[in-house]
Amino acid sequence: MNIDSLIPENIKHLKPYVAGRTIAEVMEVYRPTRISKLASNENRMGFSPVAAHAIAEASKYIQDYPDPVSQKLRKKLSGLHAVDEEDIMITAGSESMISVICRTFFKAGENAVTADATFVGFYVQAGVRGVKVKKIPITKNYKFDVDGIIGAAKEGAKLVYIANPNNPTGTYLSKADYIRLIDGVPENVLIIADEAYFEYAGEIEDYPKAMEYRRDNVIILRTFSKAYGLAGLRVGYGIAHPDLITQMTKTRLTFEPTTLAQAAAFAALDDSEFIKKSVERVVKGREQLYRFFDEHDVQYVKSISNSVLMICDDDASAVKFTQSMLEQGVILRRTQAFGLPNCIRITIGTEEDMQHFEQSYLNITEEIYS
Ligand SMILES: Cc1ncc(COP(=O)(O)O)c(C=O)c1O
Repeated sequence: MNIDSLIPENIKHLKPYVAGRTIAEVMEVYRPTRISKLASNENRMGFSPVAAHAIAEASKYIQDYPDPVSQKLRKKLSGLHAVDEEDIMITAGSESMISVICRTFFKAGENAVTADATFVGFYVQAGVRGVKVKKIPITKNYKFDVDGIIGAAKEGAKLVYIANPNNPTGTYLSKADYIRLIDGVPENVLIIADEAYFEYAGEIEDYPKAMEYRRDNVIILRTFSKAYGLAGLRVGYGIAHPDLITQMTKTRLTFEPTTLAQAAAFAALDDSEFIKKSVERVVKGREQLYRFFDEHDVQYVKSISNSVLMICDDDASAVKFTQSMLEQGVILRRTQAFGLPNCIRITIGTEEDMQHFEQSYLNITEEIYS
């Protein structure tokens, strides 16, 4: 069989996802005294006990298919956001929403615009659909080039993807920039406003909450994978004009998210104390990391999300640093797939995780300079 002849060109060009090292693998290979997994922007504080209880209850019903329209969760979210239930679609993580959007609105060969250093999941899902993605270089301050994106959107693009705050840079579009973007992009071009890190950013004065600036062509994405700590369950959602949602219901997979995911997300929404504590930890951890980096002359990008981007001198130093830290039990993410090969993304973890990071950093630099 000639497998090659079966694979469409756009799939041939995609690279399979390379998963980070698991805790078990790192333990087996390097036997560190502690492992701190700071590679995937998960919530290192865990998840709400209220959600844990809901999962236990819901597990009594897993012989049945999940509710295909996540009715209870949708109703609760519609109240929370003061929108109609018809404006909301719930999927297995927000990456699944991105996939649904690409499946629904694109034919192969059509155009999308985004930045050259943003969430890799968008590049992949657009690539799967055969979409040509124009990646506008980020500015020297690691921010989106709003005018560049608007200009490209006017040249026959069908969709603009923006993560705000952005991953992996942790930077954000200010209110003025966001308004300029949504006003500047033609109204028949869709915009994805991906707010995966909303909970960390929501209190920042100049951060534009996309819900406060709704437009018919804007699809807002949120997730339970970050501050809510439910990444392993896979639940996220989109808020958009009901006519867009109606079209997307045609291409989504019927039975997602799972029963457990729906129940956990529903319950987690009640535990605002857990979110507050998680956000406080990240804010404190970020400040501490900035101080540490300043003391050691490390370059980094200031962030309003749950990770900080460290800038290395070159790609080779980034590879070496990530590997040396791994050997110390600190799992980090190099950001070459996101378009930044000389950078490393560090998720803000617990106090112990961050002490482990600092101590390991000192051990490594001692090794290098002694
Ligand atoms: C900006 C952004 N959007 C979406 C996602 C996907 O999140 P999930 O599919 O877990 O909801 C991520 C995950 O890292 C992200 O960083």
